[in-house]
This record gives sequence, C-alpha cells and structure tokens, in this order.
Amino acid sequence: MKFKWWQTGVIYQIYPRSFMDANGDGIGDLQGVINRLDYLAHTLGVDAIWLSPFYPSPMVDFGYDVSNYVDVDPMFGDLAIFDELLNKAHALNLKVIIDFVPNHCSDQHPWFLESRQSKDNPKRDWFIWKDAKPDGSPPNNWLSVFGGSAWEWDEHTQQYYLHKFVKEQADFNWRNPEVKAAMFEVIRFWLNRKVDGFRIDVAHFILKDPDFRDNPLNENGETPLHKDFKDYDSQIHIHDKGHQDVHEVYADLRTMLDNFDEKEKVSIGEIHVFDFDLLSSYYGSVERKEFHLPFNFTLLGLPWDATKARHLVESYEASLPKNAWPNYVMGNHDEKRMASRFEKDELRAMSLMLLTLRGTPTLYYGDEIGMLEAEIPLDKMQDPWGINVPGLGRDGCRTPMQWTNAKHAGFSEGASTWLPVFDEQNINVKDQLEEEDSLLNLYRKLLKIRRSSDALKCGAFETLNAYTNDQFWFYRRFVDQEECWILINFSKEKKKINLPSFAQILCRTQSDDMSKEAIQSLTLEAKEAILLAKNPMT
Ligand code: NOJ
Repeated sequence: MKFKWWQTGVIYQIYPRSFMDANGDGIGDLQGVINRLDYLAHTLGVDAIWLSPFYPSPMVDFGYDVSNYVDVDPMFGDLAIFDELLNKAHALNLKVIIDFVPNHCSDQHPWFLESRQSKDNPKRDWFIWKDAKPDGSPPNNWLSVFGGSAWEWDEHTQQYYLHKFVKEQADFNWRNPEVKAAMFEVIRFWLNRKVDGFRIDVAHFILKDPDFRDNPLNENGETPLHKDFKDYDSQIHIHDKGHQDVHEVYADLRTMLDNFDEKEKVSIGEIHVFDFDLLSSYYGSVERKEFHLPFNFTLLGLPWDATKARHLVESYEASLPKNAWPNYVMGNHDEKRMASRFEKDELRAMSLMLLTLRGTPTLYYGDEIGMLEAEIPLDKMQDPWGINVPGLGRDGCRTPMQWTNAKHAGFSEGASTWLPVFDEQNINVKDQLEEEDSLLNLYRKLLKIRRSSDALKCGAFETLNAYTNDQFWFYRRFVDQEECWILINFSKEKKKINLPSFAQILCRTQSDDMSKEAIQSLTLEAKEAILLAKNPMT
C-alpha cells in the first residue's frame, strides 16, 4: 500500500490573525505566513499547514462568519498573496489545507441579505426560516452553541431564522440542492487554485432533523470537554445537528475530491463526537468513502493517566473501520492550550506521544514552544462566546505567536496587537532555538525522527502488555524490519526496567543520557517518555 502525504505527514494549524503580522496593523496576515514558511518547513519540519479562515468577514466570529467564500479579506491580503503563499509553500514541499465553513455564513453575505429581503425571494429557502409559534416564541427549543436560543426574529419578514452559532452566522438549508451546488462550486474554486485540502467546520451540523423536533432535555448536562457548559448541555443535541443525511453530502464531496487530482486532496471533518463508533461512521464505507480524517478530539480531554491514555488509544484503534486512517489533535483555536493542561514534564511526554501514535497529528501554532493559555481581562476580550457565556471564551489560546523576546514577541511592529501578547519574555521561538533541551528542540528532533522512520509514519501500533500497568504505558510501532518502542512513565518515580535487546535510544524527554546502563537495562526518569529503535535506523 502506498501512503498519502496526509497519512505520513504532520499538519500544523495556523490561526492567521495570530501567527505573524507583516503590515504592522496588529493582526496577523498571509504575508506574515509567507515570511514564516521557512520556519515551518525547515526549522520545525512539518509537512502541511491548515489555515483557519482568511475570507472576507465582518469578524464577529473571527472569520467563521464568511461574507464571501471566494476571496481574501483585505485584512489578510488578497488572492494574489494567497496564490503566492500557495506557490511558495509548495516549493518547500508544504501542503496547504484551507478552512471551509459550510454550516453557516455571515448575515452580511449577499446570499443572506437577499434571503431576508422577502418571503418570496429566490434565496429565501437557502437559509432556514420558520414561523413563530402562536404565542410568538421560537419554532422549537434549539439552542445556539454560543448561548441563548438558536432562532433570531426577523422583524421585516416576520419569521425566525436559524443560527447554531451567533445570530450573525445564519445556518444554510442544505436540503436545498442549490445550496449544495453553490457550496461545491466554492470547493472547486479553491481546488482550481491548487489547495491540497479542506478542514470542514462543524461538518456534522449541516443537516438537522427535517421535522424540526425539540431536542430532549438532558438530566446530567455534561460534556467531556466543557464541564461548565451548562445551558447548552441542558439538552441532548440529537435533532439540531448530525442528521444521517449528512453522510450523503460528504460521500459526494469525497467523490468530487478523489476525482479531482489522483486522490491527493484531503478532507478533514471537524466533528465534535466522542463516541468512537459514531465518529468512525464519518469515514464512510469502503464502497462509499466520506472524510479522509474525521478529527479525533479525544486527546483534548485526556488527563495525565496511563490507563486512560492507553484505553483511549486502544478503543479508538479498535473502532476504526477497515482502511480508515487515524488522527490525533492535542490543541486548536477553540481549546485550552496544551501547556496549561499539563505540567512541564507531562507536556514533554505528551508531545512525544502525540508524534509517535499511529495516525496524522495536527499541531496547533505555539504548542511547539509551550505557549500558555493567556488570561484575558474582560475589557480586552474578543471572542463572542466568552462575552456571552463567561468562562467559555477562547481568546486565551489565540494570542499572538511568540517569536522573540522583543516588543509584541516579534509578532508585530504595530503599536498594539488584536489580543495581548502573553509572556514573551519566557516563552519564544528565538530563545528556545538556542536552548538545547527546549520544548521546541524536542519537537524538531521528534519531527525529524518521524520523517525518517517508516515505523512511526505508517507502521502498526500495539501496546506492549508485558510492560504496561497503571503507571506505565509502553507501545510499539512496527513495519517490515523496522520497530520502535515508546515507553511512557506516568508515575512520579524513577523506574529501572529490563528490556529485550534494543539498538538505540532515539529521544528521551527528561534526560540526555542516551547510553544504555547495561545491555537490556534502562532507567526512566519520573514522567519521562522515551523513544527507542529496536534495530539501527538508517
Ligand atoms: C468551529 C470553529 O472551530 C469555531 O472556532 C467556530 O466558532 C465555530 N465552528 C463556528 O463556525
């Protein structure tokens, strides 16, 4: 079997507002990304970048409210700069994945502006409009993820429209074939410009219950990720998203992508589903494939615990349909920073784990230097979610990338930045490149080893049961003659272990002692992860 780039490679997410500001307005831009391509391709050594939205947008949800799907917001550049970014990235062997937002568009998108003109406007049915109940209340009990009802009253046409996110993000009616045709046309536009794939925003939200039934109430309102997500979790969201008809749309999308270019394009579904069997259904079947990679977000909720880590990975592996390719996410622009979820030593071990599991890892900008979740004072808060529902804001993981210890961490030469820079004095790329055992150098080392190891890129995965207990999780990755062992000590104690012969220590997270104490014996430091080669690597 020949493996594709999206299977063997490592993806790096860029939140364009926060990565690099080239024009000094305090907001990152595409020219800034171009200026840092060399860092990504060579210094760090990732294989693909995913750009969060850069389309024209009123920025109510910072680009996830798109007002034109086929252009670039002047704040970020223009189509010519996008093309330049793409060409330069490709010249460095970096693939470029872009964000596609199909569930909703901005209320300022011309399609919605038309739709809200009158009940008989040709675009009326492109969105979800409903009459009020006789008492004037919304048509059903559906809630917006960002707080409050998911229905907004339109005084002019005397109906409610649906918005599963902020009211400035109107949900499309994907049951209308014209919507599907228009959105597939958008995909074609970017394919023709030669992008390598799409990350599809809240992919499972696009189709809802055709009868618009109320969601049932949830007695123990809790999700794995957000324990204080109370209002939204007062319901079980079975009717307002994830209707089984979504599968047909994504199977059609897959056919379109596979037909486009020798099956080289990738579709990644953002699907917040924590039941592995349900998540796996988004791969489709062997005959009717859907997503290449339905994002696996379960590591985002993983505590520092050997049994839980092992159980999570094994049950995910066991749930995967035949030929489905796994993937792992440890951070993104919606979640608390990885470095603030783990202690320092744990963070290093978790980074080694992320880069040695079977499947495609997606890294989030700044996680390679251990950027922390920033505390954003109320008057500097930007995220509409955090403003609507205190405690759920996402600004803390979106602060500017810390490049140096200079003003604004080298992110911008402007007077101020859109979100405050956090802790540039202690955590930045420049200093970490100089410190031999920095987190950045650990990532660089691991990425380099991964590139040269077929076992890590595409080998099988198996827990080494003989060495695994509630303190240790050891697993191996292997293909043909090549085999790597990954040993993670979750305990606070050092541990001496005896192993069958091994050839080489490739990387360790707590010590630089690469020698074997005696043949077959090795001491793991507390909270240390070690990567071993069972036979010499070429
Ligand atoms: C998921 C995105 O990751 C998030 O940032 C955004 O706010 C919502 N979808 C709505 O588009």
